[in-house]
Amino acid sequence: MIQFPELNRDARASLEAEGQFPGAWETMAQLERVADTALARLRARRTELAAGGPATLRALSLVDRLLWTERVEYLDRDDVSDARKQRIVHALHRMNQGLLSYHRFLHHLRPAIEHVARRERRPARVLELASGSGEFTMALGRLAGRKGLPVRVTGSDIVPAYVADANIRAQARRLPVRFVELNAFDLLSTLTPGDFDICFIAQSIHHFSPGQLAMMVAQAGLAGARHFVGIDGRRSLLMAVGLPLFTALSLQRDFVHDAAITARRFYSEAELALIADIAAPGADVSVERAEPGYSVLHVRY
Ligand SMILES: C[S@@+](CC[C@H](N)C(=O)[O-])C[C@H]1O[C@@H](n2cnc3c(N)ncnc32)[C@H](O)[C@@H]1O
Repeated sequence: MIQFPELNRDARASLEAEGQFPGAWETMAQLERVADTALARLRARRTELAAGGPATLRALSLVDRLLWTERVEYLDRDDVSDARKQRIVHALHRMNQGLLSYHRFLHHLRPAIEHVARRERRPARVLELASGSGEFTMALGRLAGRKGLPVRVTGSDIVPAYVADANIRAQARRLPVRFVELNAFDLLSTLTPGDFDICFIAQSIHHFSPGQLAMMVAQAGLAGARHFVGIDGRRSLLMAVGLPLFTALSLQRDFVHDAAITARRFYSEAELALIADIAAPGADVSVERAEPGYSVLHVRY
């Protein structure tokens, strides 16, 4: 309802006709600026177009703008302790388990894994960005061991405590996975080009600004990945209301606090496509609606 596919298409087409899109860039600093500006222009043009439309469209456009928040989740705050953040990522893990989210993530990731494994005649090397509790990385590692899924997987996060904790759990479970500390939009300073075939990120894209997401997508390609798969909550009124209510079942106030912010910050599918088009010119970019509740960004470099 607040994806505005036609409005986004018209806004993007009119900006392209004015020669404003897709912006050119050479350095990461330029890319960040270009993507941030592009998103701001898309949103502004969308608002202008909606203002000339019927009352329902004007009202929905207003709701969408009111929904957006600059508030920051506890997970992203420096003044919140690691222990408190860990309780949130583990609450998220329990929700993921309850909603069978890991099965759904695998469903969207599997074609890329099989494509790489077929082409290269070896297991696909997956790097999960922003892996939080690390439990999806571990689930993939378990599938590789038990069911022969042709994959080798590494998890990563910017929070050292999650990385250390996930490595301890993976070792205790004897899983063939490892976790490393990594800033998802500064991959090139850490990765050796050719280390990974697939970059994957789940339920985290809304933590990043348009410019940061663009740098992540561009750097994954520059580091030699053939695929980027990003799954995040789908921007909708239902999610904005339903997600915080659902997480209230966890009885964990911090988790509900973050969920209420999360649901207001999801990107629309047209926005994800624009950011990826800017970041990976010439790549095959698509964004899939994956109900209930997700949008999936695929970039094939
Ligand atoms: C909502 S959690 C998602 C965790 C996990 N992917 C899941 O689905 O359960 C968001 C994660 O993004 C991580 N994060 C935020 N900024 C990051 C950055 N710049 N680089 C890497 N990870 C980051 C946080 O530490 C957190 O673990």
